[in-house]
Amino acid sequence: MNSPNNLSGKVVLITGASSGIGEATARHLAARGAQVSLAARRLDKLTQLVADITQAGGQAPAFATDVSQRPQVEALVQQTVAAFGRLDVVFNCAGVFLLSPLEAQHYAEWEQMIDVNLKGMLYTIGAALPHFKAQGSGHFINVSSIAGHFVYPASAVYSATEFAVRAVSEGLRQEVKPYNVRTTILSLRSLAAGVAARPRRGLQMP
Ligand SMILES: NC(=O)c1ccc[n+]([C@@H]2O[C@H](COP(=O)([O-])OP(=O)(O)OC[C@H]3O[C@@H](n4cnc5c(N)ncnc54)[C@H](OP(=O)(O)O)[C@@H]3O)[C@@H](O)[C@H]2O)c1
Repeated sequence: MNSPNNLSGKVVLITGASSGIGEATARHLAARGAQVSLAARRLDKLTQLVADITQAGGQAPAFATDVSQRPQVEALVQQTVAAFGRLDVVFNCAGVFLLSPLEAQHYAEWEQMIDVNLKGMLYTIGAALPHFKAQGSGHFINVSSIAGHFVYPASAVYSATEFAVRAVSEGLRQEVKPYNVRTTILSLRSLAAGVAARPRRGLQMP
């Protein structure tokens, strides 16, 4: 039995759209009639995705965005609203997954995970929430991980960012309910593609 399609015409902003889960989600939603606004740093990847979606009859502007840079995220949300006149869903999928034991002192990687996984999501929420409030509707979908529930050897900093994503999502859920804004968190397990498929110094999450 086919489920009713309530995606037609919905405007969905997807961060981390240049590969993996974000890209697959963009293709899936566009094929079901959603208008997708695509964000990531690699514009060449986004350009190919835009071409594929457009060729299939969809609509998908792309915006080169580093989510760790707040002004870029604010511009992304403004440009999306300007392009479509509204914003229905934010799919917060940009993320980096870098395993190492704390004693290895990979400070740059710690900072990158905090900047992208946590601050990037916060910047997107901060930029989109005023539009959702003004509309009286909206939906944040925050992509997280089982590492937001459990800590494994070498996952301390990644897990810390994913625990934080869960805390922010729960706080957001409580705060925005009165505005008819919904919040969903996806706690994913390792998939065969995307961040989990890349070598990380021989370390693996269960
Ligand atoms: N795959 C899994 O098994 C799995 C399991 C649990 C959770 N997750 C979570 O799912 C999310 C997506 O993972 P994935 O597997 O699809 O990984 P992926 O293929 O590596 O995709 C990561 C995406 O994040 C974007 N990104 C990274 N840094 C960014 C930045 N500074 N600004 C903007 N975009 C940035 C990348 O785009 P650019 O490099 O072009 O910027 C890319 O589009 C992540 O949050 C990850 O933690 C994945």
